[in-house]
Amino acid sequence: MNPFSYGTIVKEPYFFDRKEECGRIIDTLSGGNNLVLFAPRRFGKTSLVFRAIEELEKKGFICIYFDFMPVYSRESFIEAYTKAIVSKQGNIQKAVKALGKFAKGIRPKLVFNQSGNPEFSIDFTENKINEKTLGEILDLPENLASAGKRFIVVLDEFQEINKLNGENFEKLFRSKIQHYKNVNYLFLGSRTHLLSDMFNNKGRAFYNAAMLMQIGSLPQKETIDFLIGRFASSGIQLEQSLALFLIEQAGNIPYYIQLLAHE
Ligand SMILES: Nc1ncnc2c1ncn2[C@@H]1O[C@H](COP(=O)(O)OP(=O)(O)OP(=O)(O)O)[C@@H](O)[C@H]1O
Ligand SMILES: [Mg+2]
Repeated sequence: MNPFSYGTIVKEPYFFDRKEECGRIIDTLSGGNNLVLFAPRRFGKTSLVFRAIEELEKKGFICIYFDFMPVYSRESFIEAYTKAIVSKQGNIQKAVKALGKFAKGIRPKLVFNQSGNPEFSIDFTENKINEKTLGEILDLPENLASAGKRFIVVLDEFQEINKLNGENFEKLFRSKIQHYKNVNYLFLGSRTHLLSDMFNNKGRAFYNAAMLMQIGSLPQKETIDFLIGRFASSGIQLEQSLALFLIEQAGNIPYYIQLLAHE
């Protein structure tokens, strides 16, 4: 098997380093703060966050990962977001009941798939999604959090929230999250200037809503060790100078390092 992997979320043994960054993410969120993580495309944001989620779950947090990229409307947001929340509740029947109690603008239900297993699905009670329904959906993690169980909600490609009617949604979301006691958010995205404007521009709703963190390239020495070690696992001896050449050719971007090494 090829000892390198690229283009998907990577875990060990394809993932290395980022220990300090991972520790900072865990400390910030478990300390009750929100965080926004910036990095250009292909630097390893999502993989790093999945690593942090593993650790946070071990500490007892309920972590929801949600990607804004495929969202194209308020309806699709509500469907995918409630699904992500329900998937983290142990008992699906109980979760459906709880959703019905807290979100009156939707009708949650269980449908049975071809294999006979129950699957979560929703209908909308109104033709048009209003602010009240949207607010109820945003409130769900706070309402579902129980004694001692806090939620961490990870919103990937968060800048894409603009697709959902721009400023109003942003304002509603911000006004909601500042009151939550049992939920913290990790925002991340790859369109750095858009995300940065959301959190750094005084005129925007999310101004000062989260601590900022930037990740850079992976450190050179660790990358060389990783390359040499992974090649060795395939019985190939890689010269240090060649590992360095490969890193340089890849512009020191994690994705391209693994792509080149894979080839
Ligand atoms: N810590 C790491 N160790 C080794 N390889 C990594 C690491 N982080 C990222 N990579 C490489 O970079 C690729 C992209 O990682 P990932 O999808 O996590 O980045 P991203 O910043 O979320 O990218 P995008 O901007 O496309 O959303 C991975 O498939 C892997 O090849
Ligand atoms: Mg990503």
